[in-house]
Amino acid sequence: MKLIKRLCGILTTTLIVNSLAACNVNVNVGNKNTYIKEIKIGVTLYKQDDVFVSTITKNLEEIAKEKENEGKYKIIINIVDAKGSLINQSNQVDKFVAQNYDVICVNMVDRTAASMIIDKAKSANIPVVFFNREPVEEDMERWNKLYYVGAQAEQSGELQAGIIMNAYEKDNRIVDKNGDGKIQYVMLEGEPGHQDALIRTEYCIKTLTQKGIELEKLADDTANWQNAQANTKMTQWIKNFGNKIEVVFCNNDDMALGAIQALENSGLTEKPLVVGIDGLPKALEAVKNGLMIGTIINDSKKQASAIFNIAYTLATNGDVNSVEGLEKGKYIKTPHTQVTSENVDLYLENKK
Ligand code: BGC
Ligand code: CA
Repeated sequence: MKLIKRLCGILTTTLIVNSLAACNVNVNVGNKNTYIKEIKIGVTLYKQDDVFVSTITKNLEEIAKEKENEGKYKIIINIVDAKGSLINQSNQVDKFVAQNYDVICVNMVDRTAASMIIDKAKSANIPVVFFNREPVEEDMERWNKLYYVGAQAEQSGELQAGIIMNAYEKDNRIVDKNGDGKIQYVMLEGEPGHQDALIRTEYCIKTLTQKGIELEKLADDTANWQNAQANTKMTQWIKNFGNKIEVVFCNNDDMALGAIQALENSGLTEKPLVVGIDGLPKALEAVKNGLMIGTIINDSKKQASAIFNIAYTLATNGDVNSVEGLEKGKYIKTPHTQVTSENVDLYLENKK
């Protein structure tokens, strides 16, 4: 691999990449025209229009720019969109391999299909940083140059339950509107099979029932993380259950925002409490405006910097075990924080 890298410059490749990994290149960094090394990080996304995933990539690009400004390396981050197709994603990985990228970061279209990507990367000796969509453990064990960056999913479910629990303990009639001692709820779930969807749902419900709160599920269904699908589902549920719905649990904010839109359009007099996860700027606004009782920050900045730190360290032959937060030699899972009207201003400030 090292040899291949040294041969860089001989191969002719595509437009995007005409100088290859670890080549010395003459570039403009800041205002200086200097002779430095180039590193290349390829990123393939399951879907670029996923709002949360796109915040990770925006942060990643910013972090890389800042690092590049230190003047040590020219850093190329090439972000491509698999548009929900595993075939596209596999082709994109092939290209990164052919173009001799230093590290490939993969947001899997189908998290159970990682072995195919791993085999390609392993035979080219290019490390892989998976993120946001976690491969199964068995796949993560296939090679010692595989990493995963994501969030502590159990915690997000527990904290989401905590928002409703706190409201209930403060004044149970805010939550239990009909006063029957139970919380009538609907649940909008993320993509079936996605670790965050499964775990968030499970831990949210488990946490509440373990605290002795009685729940009555009116409906639950997947809206695949998506605003529009959540809007359609919620519109239907409002028709079916009307004022009976007391809480709308959402596996992410984009679906919560879709549900809120449906509620706004419905003319319901008794609106249920809506709670999400991610901390998207629009969701923070909704918390501020009282349309949402709360959300949980899924730390896209910390995740982007974890992805970058691992990738950069690998590309520059550093010691990956020194990367902050790395566990079991391959995992970084970031913690969450709860946001309600009480502390939302703090986060709105940060978004400016
Ligand atoms: C986020 C969702 C996002 C999904 C994509 C989850 O961790 O909370 O908003 O749609 O990842 O994989
Ligand atoms: Ca009730």
